[in-house]
Amino acid sequence: MTAFTVEAAPGGVHGVLRVPGDKSVSHRALLLAARADGRSELHGLSDGEDVRHTAEAIQAFGAEVVRIGEGTVAVDGGPARLREPQRVVDVGNSGTAIRLLTGWATAIDGMAVLVGDESIARRPMGRIADPLRLMGAQIDGRAGGTLPPLVVRGGHLHGIEYRPPVASAQVKGAVLLAGLAAEGPTTVIEAIPTRRHTEEMLLQAGADVVVNGGSVTLRPSALSPMSVDVPGDPSHAAFWAVAASIVPGSDLVIEHVYVGPGRAGFIDVLRRMGADIEVVGENPVTRTADLRIRSAALHATEVGGAEVPSLIDEIPVLAVAASLAEGATTFSDAAELAVKESDRIASTTGGLQAIGVRAEARPDGLVVHGRAGRPPAGGSVDALGDHRIAMSMAIAGLVTAEPVRITGWESVATSYPTFREDLRRCVS
Ligand code: S3P
Repeated sequence: MTAFTVEAAPGGVHGVLRVPGDKSVSHRALLLAARADGRSELHGLSDGEDVRHTAEAIQAFGAEVVRIGEGTVAVDGGPARLREPQRVVDVGNSGTAIRLLTGWATAIDGMAVLVGDESIARRPMGRIADPLRLMGAQIDGRAGGTLPPLVVRGGHLHGIEYRPPVASAQVKGAVLLAGLAAEGPTTVIEAIPTRRHTEEMLLQAGADVVVNGGSVTLRPSALSPMSVDVPGDPSHAAFWAVAASIVPGSDLVIEHVYVGPGRAGFIDVLRRMGADIEVVGENPVTRTADLRIRSAALHATEVGGAEVPSLIDEIPVLAVAASLAEGATTFSDAAELAVKESDRIASTTGGLQAIGVRAEARPDGLVVHGRAGRPPAGGSVDALGDHRIAMSMAIAGLVTAEPVRITGWESVATSYPTFREDLRRCVS
């Protein structure tokens, strides 16, 4: 296990950062490019292990992925290339990869076996297997077909109208990707909206998609090759937005961040807490903007309800912001946290407690008792194999009295391998 130690940044967090490409967009860009007849060009894909697993997976199914320049990848795809893979497909640590790939693979006539690491083996798959079975796919797995490894047999699907019982963009994405080759229309109706990358990118690839409020209807479609410029990942930007908010004397710009629907909830929450965040030059087409963040005194807020899916991955680092705020911040309606890369209710609460912050786990979230700007003690934290816990605790280390030592730092490679370089770049 690798450890990383972060010390306080008395000079603040400064400069201009460009965070790596969005992970959600990167997975989908690869999956759609693999189905599009011809060559797609994808610029600025996430360079983390999660997305690399999706790139390897589509190659196992017959698409070709070639690097054609600095930060640009070409994908040669199309239904005629795609066939059942000869070997087991490994998604590593990526829940998005296994869930989206399962739906995507059911559009192919054949069998695929999807496996991942020990965290993946605990991630619930019934939420995607249930609708895909309704569409005619055969999905098997451990625990009565609800846990990976998964055995997927697809082809000859029919469309359904589906109302997911959990608010999940992965479920919506898996069902829509299966619908690409199903007979008849496939409709997903969400009670609480989630990130819209699947439908936005299907439209971009020329699919027959109609979005109407919370409902998305896809008719079986052939896809056209795309040129995708992957925007900066807002989930990565959130680490630096919290850092610049809580470290006194900071003034930081993060360029070219996706701020579209379902992803920018952390900005609203931080602003509610009193953070000084400017969204500069928002492009209505690409939905990207630069964020300028200056440090500010924060106060507590309540996070819950329909905003939760728009910030679910950012809760660990928002909890770090809450630990410096005045008052107690409550995160509710977030039981989903328990089934992420780690049990993030336990790992966030435990991480904060380990550095001297009072925090309590709740069945559907947590409560963080803010220190009104007083530095937490610092100490040693185990990331529990979870990249977002590792990076959130690194951000906390920028304001603690003693350094924060994070064990299990290698998990960061799944999403943000250049985090340490970016930290060095903006901490003086
Ligand atoms: C994602 C959706 C979210 C998020 C995950 C990425 C996506 O998960 O937590 O990191 O790309 O669709 P759920 O769909 O399970 O909410």
